[in-house]
Amino acid sequence: MSSVLLDVHLTESAAETALRADARAGLMAEPKQLPPKWFYDGRGSELFEKITELPEYYPTRTERALLRASVDDIAAASGADTVVELGSGSSAKTRLLLDAFTRAGTLRRYVPQDVSEPALRLALHALADEYAGLELHGVVGDFTRDLSGLPRGGRRMIAFLGGTVGNLLPAERAAFLTHVRSVLEPGEQLLLGTGLVIDPAIVVPAYDDAAGVTAEFNRNVLHVLNRELGADFDPEAFAHVAAWDAENEWIEMRLRAERDMTVTIAALDLVVRFAAGEEMRTEISAKFRRDGVGAMLTDAGFEPSRWWADPQDRFGLSLATAR
Ligand code: SAH
Ligand code: TRP
Repeated sequence: MSSVLLDVHLTESAAETALRADARAGLMAEPKQLPPKWFYDGRGSELFEKITELPEYYPTRTERALLRASVDDIAAASGADTVVELGSGSSAKTRLLLDAFTRAGTLRRYVPQDVSEPALRLALHALADEYAGLELHGVVGDFTRDLSGLPRGGRRMIAFLGGTVGNLLPAERAAFLTHVRSVLEPGEQLLLGTGLVIDPAIVVPAYDDAAGVTAEFNRNVLHVLNRELGADFDPEAFAHVAAWDAENEWIEMRLRAERDMTVTIAALDLVVRFAAGEEMRTEISAKFRRDGVGAMLTDAGFEPSRWWADPQDRFGLSLATAR
């Protein structure tokens, strides 16, 4: 039997407090915006899993093929006995890494961390069946807040896959990577997955699929506000917008009000107005270039050591060592 532990660093009441603060600040800002972590309640995590299977959503299958081709190299270059993963979700692709580190004979412990407790519980349950003998230590938490409670000891590699680093704004991203560096000992590692800059004609449909799953995922944040904060958003009155920002090299997801609306957020004692056509930013997904990835790792106190990319240069994986 594998041993399973679950630490809750973000309790429901702390999440509630954080959601209130984010919703208040974001809905009162000009233009309005909401931070992406609130997409991921149980339904949001399920919708994201559906996105990963869409024909238009190339990132997941590209990263999976890239991992498949490079995991044995990664395991050999790393030698870690503990794989920590931030924003682990379903841990689906991670199995490739766990298998390779097992083949290499070093793996002892897997520490998946996610803000979504339902997604994490599901993943741990499945992994416990599949990986007998592996120590599993789940952590419910917000990777943008506090990573100091992550288990220490052994020789750790932190994996941050899915291109999720691109969901952070540049300043948040720099602060995040510096924070990741600060919780590692010199010599411990980071494996970072990044979507690369490619033709917007391929990127845009990945975030605006024909079946409308991404649109539903985007609107899910309004369902979360309705349920958690007693808001009365009419999600169907908001259209999903995905726009490529060529200057910033990111895709921006927004929700566009299709008519004038007045929305009450009961738990915040707040009334906000949307004008017809008004857009609220809900997410960015930045795409990177190899040099840019190297620079951001170096700036955060890492020494980049290896780089792998798929044959079409759509996705990159970097291994870097904490200096
Ligand atoms: N790593 C998976 C999932 C990527 S989707 C993959 O590559 O397919 C992004 C994941 O990060 C989701 O599981 C979401 O719940 C989680 N997440 C988003 N914001 C987070 C935050 N601030 N802290 C912790 N997890 C977060
Ligand atoms: N990390 C994923 C990405 O940037 C998250 C994601 C995929 C997403 N599709 C989305 C977030 C649509 C918001 C809306 O690719």
